[in-house]
Amino acid sequence: MSDKRQELLDGLNEDLANEWAAIQMYRSYASMVKGPYRKELREFFEAEIPEELTHAGLLTDKIVALGGVPTTRVAPVEMVDDAKQMLEQALVAERDTITRYVQRRRQAEDLEQFGLAIELDTLIADEAKHHDELKLMLDKWD
Ligand SMILES: [Fe+2]
Ligand SMILES: [Fe+2]
Repeated sequence: MSDKRQELLDGLNEDLANEWAAIQMYRSYASMVKGPYRKELREFFEAEIPEELTHAGLLTDKIVALGGVPTTRVAPVEMVDDAKQMLEQALVAERDTITRYVQRRRQAEDLEQFGLAIELDTLIADEAKHHDELKLMLDKWD
């Protein structure tokens, strides 16, 4: 396997470990969130999970198709107990994820993996939506 292909696979496995982490983060925050907005935030965090799970599935399929072994590793999850800190932490995670996918898209194009590049566009668009919602929620938080 070429070095570039191995680098792409390693990157995709890093992305996958972070999608597993996103699922754990949103699921833990949904249970742990307290305060006057618990109901809304619990529903908001839970609603993110199916899309992150879809992302994990897509990455897993692509890693296998490229001849790699999908990781079961979970990237570290920042545990906080304040509702605003949860939103801030999720915002950081979504921003970092977008940065990783933009880099991965460039690697995919470089290797002429155009199907993967298009799938990564969808992931970038999904994570950008998550990012924007979190940003707007935090904009009016006292
Ligand atoms: Fe995701
Ligand atoms: Fe996300």
